[in-house]
Amino acid sequence: MCGIIGVLGDHEVAPLLVETLKRLEYRGYDSAGIATVNNGVLDRRRATGKLVNLSDLLVHNPLAGKAGIGHTRWATHGAATTGNAHPHSCGPVTVVHNGIIENFRELRAMLANHGLTPSTETDTETVAMLAAHHMAQGMTAREAVKATVAALHGAFALLFLFQGQEDLMIAARKGSPLAIGYGKGEMFVGSDAIALAPMTDRVTYLEEGDIAFVTRSGVEIIDENHAHANRDIVRIEASATLIDKRGHKHFMTKEIHEQPTVVAEALGRYAPSGLPSFPDRLDFTQIDRVVMVACGTGYYSCLTAKYWFEQVAGIPCEVDVASEFRYREPPVTPRTLALFVSQSGETADTLAALRYMKDKAAIVASLVNVGTSSIAREADLALAILAGIEVSVASTKAYTNQLTILALLAVHAARQRGHISDAAARAHVIDLMGLPDLMRQALALEPQIARIAEDLAPAPSILFLGRGVMYPTALEAALKLKELSYIHAEAYASGELKHGPIALIDRTLPVVVFAPHDRLFEKTVSNMQEVLARHGLVTLITDATGAALASEGTAAQLILPTASELCAPILYALPAQLIAYHAAMAKGTDIDQPRNLAKSVTVE
Ligand code: M6R
Repeated sequence: MCGIIGVLGDHEVAPLLVETLKRLEYRGYDSAGIATVNNGVLDRRRATGKLVNLSDLLVHNPLAGKAGIGHTRWATHGAATTGNAHPHSCGPVTVVHNGIIENFRELRAMLANHGLTPSTETDTETVAMLAAHHMAQGMTAREAVKATVAALHGAFALLFLFQGQEDLMIAARKGSPLAIGYGKGEMFVGSDAIALAPMTDRVTYLEEGDIAFVTRSGVEIIDENHAHANRDIVRIEASATLIDKRGHKHFMTKEIHEQPTVVAEALGRYAPSGLPSFPDRLDFTQIDRVVMVACGTGYYSCLTAKYWFEQVAGIPCEVDVASEFRYREPPVTPRTLALFVSQSGETADTLAALRYMKDKAAIVASLVNVGTSSIAREADLALAILAGIEVSVASTKAYTNQLTILALLAVHAARQRGHISDAAARAHVIDLMGLPDLMRQALALEPQIARIAEDLAPAPSILFLGRGVMYPTALEAALKLKELSYIHAEAYASGELKHGPIALIDRTLPVVVFAPHDRLFEKTVSNMQEVLARHGLVTLITDATGAALASEGTAAQLILPTASELCAPILYALPAQLIAYHAAMAKGTDIDQPRNLAKSVTVE
């Protein structure tokens, strides 16, 4: 969500702040701003919309200073207006914030008693007001921030700058990540390593409850009890700096085309010698039940894995969206593996669900793409998704890597529980090893998929159908299409069609059917016939056998290479992604940063 950068530099910082905010664009935002302190004076510039608006403003109305903070805002409290854009200032304090201050109304009421009234609709302004109030009572900036942070409820990352103090930034973390970066005589604060990568490769990640007092000569960190804290300095992986489109028009298409490579890397890591290999702590002889929790696309990878855990490993598996799970307070049996799946590792609901399961489940594991994230760090065991940095808001390569690793995990569970023989496990792995090649063949069909997508793009609404493992694939296809092209889309298990959605079918409704020639093929095709009988416009996505048996009457067909039930949902994700991508191209939407969306959803 919101992006944060802070610099105590030895050059003018405004250009660097804007350049860094550009690197944080991928997180999703609707306004941006920067503040500097120059000759002791705090000043700020803010603009709605894309960063170019802030850059234009700075051309006409520059901001001098060698100490500054910057922010990209994803609106939560108050519309995306210039007034609501960060930084928010009150008296000698200016602050940027990621997250939500839950008790801002109570704090506002308290501050009103001291004659302080807000001028924005935001929760963040209350933080600046409270710190300013404490300073007016005689506290130093450090004391004021400590007192302010202690009074805040919610999840947040905060970065403060002060009037008259050109060698001090104060950062506070509770719920949303922040990293401190070390330069030569310069110091940086960023909401993630991507922000800091061009300036430094040495960073310290703040822990929950930490407050960091940053000066050009270093950082002093205190923990949630205000005791001095030593935090490691780590080297940012080189890959954190590899953020360019490599000749692709969008990050999304680059990431779609990286899938054969990153799937191969995941297979190499988790099945290095022909059998699945996972840490010893994942002992499925001690597990009777798997509970998987995630949001969005990660939820669909869990739904797919449910079929595998149950069918391949014979182990009961429940899947839930994190926002429901966390408040349902489900009873937990002791021999439960709780598995949390998240690309970013910072999704607020998934993190809260993980915390609920801590000390209840036999083991709390996570499958996460960002190794330094909260969900990776707080789990008993973190499995890496190994997709590399995913910049596009729409998740693609993280999804197919999640699926690949979960397929291997299900085979691992089946083998450990004696549900299948070693030979059968090896056969599954050999099957999965064929995926990168199958994916390359599917990607070669992109021109044909683009034509299908262009035909679908004018439709106001599209229905996706699938059975078994193709049902979550249909759900993922509908989500991708909605996110990217803003076309309304729904997905159903095809057996559910006649329980209601069939009422929608007419000559104008495009219906995309995922139907590989598997053991449920006949059943899916029967449902497809019910659509065709009502003049629905069917696009059939299948393999050569399926196409030979069921193409008649369909408006379009896409023939993918033949794949097993383990590989099919991973392979069929590719046309789902490419349909969404090319429909979005046809509609001219903002592909890498769709409206209203954020890459990392750090508020519930
Ligand atoms: O980072 P996470 O995997 O926890 O994110 C969960 C969802 O917000 C995410 O998958 C979202 O649905 C994507 N935009 C899908 O493309």
